[in-house]
Amino acid sequence: MIQNPADPPSRPCIAPQVLEELAREYGTPLYILNLDIVDQQWSKLSAFDSIRYAQKAHSGLHLLKWLAKKNAHVDAVSGTEVLKAIHAGFPVEHIELATDVLDRRSLKVIEEHEVRVNIGTLSMIPELASTPCRECTLRINPGFGGGHDQKVTTGGSASKHGIWWEQLPQAYEMADANNLTVTGLHMHIGSGVTLDLLEKQIGFMQGCLYDAPDSVSRISTGGGLPIPYQPHETEFSVEQWSQTWLEARNRWQVDLDRPIHLEVEPGRFLVAQAGILITEVRGTKSTPDHDWIMVDAGFHTLARPLLYGAYHEVVALRKTSGKSWPQLVAGPLCESGDVLTTGPSGELQPRHLPRQEPGDYLALLDVGAYGISMASGYNGFELPAEVTFEEGQPRLTRARQTPQEQWIQELS
Ligand SMILES: Cc1ncc(COP(=O)(O)O)c(C=O)c1O
Repeated sequence: MIQNPADPPSRPCIAPQVLEELAREYGTPLYILNLDIVDQQWSKLSAFDSIRYAQKAHSGLHLLKWLAKKNAHVDAVSGTEVLKAIHAGFPVEHIELATDVLDRRSLKVIEEHEVRVNIGTLSMIPELASTPCRECTLRINPGFGGGHDQKVTTGGSASKHGIWWEQLPQAYEMADANNLTVTGLHMHIGSGVTLDLLEKQIGFMQGCLYDAPDSVSRISTGGGLPIPYQPHETEFSVEQWSQTWLEARNRWQVDLDRPIHLEVEPGRFLVAQAGILITEVRGTKSTPDHDWIMVDAGFHTLARPLLYGAYHEVVALRKTSGKSWPQLVAGPLCESGDVLTTGPSGELQPRHLPRQEPGDYLALLDVGAYGISMASGYNGFELPAEVTFEEGQPRLTRARQTPQEQWIQELS
């Protein structure tokens, strides 16, 4: 079975032979999404009043439709993500556009659909005043943040995100002057948070809530709940994390004598472990210091290793009895950085893998979040296909892009 050693045994998994068959049928690189795992993760967050899925993690239409049926709320970053959420069946009241800058297209979508906005920059307030929206959420930058990489740490002075906490009184005044009611406070401090920062974040949120106008009745914890990518990592204690937030919320309701809705906004936690990327081995080579396995997926298929030095477990699908030794896995792009096995600072990080022959397949695990959603057509490679498993049954949910679709918008 294909499983990260860090996964609990109860995790639904797919046999390597099934993955090989799918790779032969639909070609590679091929993404797999297992909704049965998303479902398992979803149920771990059921204590919250609402779960707002951060669509940026994976915006597949089939996934969005499935989540809409589960009564999920959804976080969008752009007007197009709002339109996709509407298309997938989310009621507008369940959609929130969270951004630090409103481009004109997104503003138009907000005007047309009256979508609530999570405001990250003060200058957005007067812009919203000209739309039919009369309600908003404020995203707070509390002056500290956390995350698996500096690029995904979204609090602190070096982060572009959110309204700096000292400017909140000004935000309330501006909202008032522009006839906008602030109904929610939101604090996403980064992707891959730890329990260490939890008390600090909750304490900070409490201070903000107690100073806020009475119109504030919704609190969002943000997302950022981590998953174990490496075999030695342990599962995040989501029960403890949720429990601490819920206890705080209960206290706030008593102190303020009004109901406070508590929302969580995960991306990675729901979908990361549900994703597998299958790539075909096209050749091997050696340099004096390294052995390389050359595959047909690269940073155009999975950007996380290049962007963050992110680790993804690599598994050979063909069973061999031969020895394994440290090998690098690299893609087809004309870039030296096109290596899928990197360490935290982007250094080459060989993995123990058995001998690979052209035509063999490797599986990269835990790629459901920020995998296909970050894929690009760089160097003329088409966006990959995706197969989704639901109740154990596979179905093609995204066709591979054709070469012609890559240049269809271009005018000569
Ligand atoms: C505002 C906001 N909410 C939620 C998320 C989801 O983060 P994660 O996928 O780590 O849960 C992000 C990620 O960037 C974000 O910026």
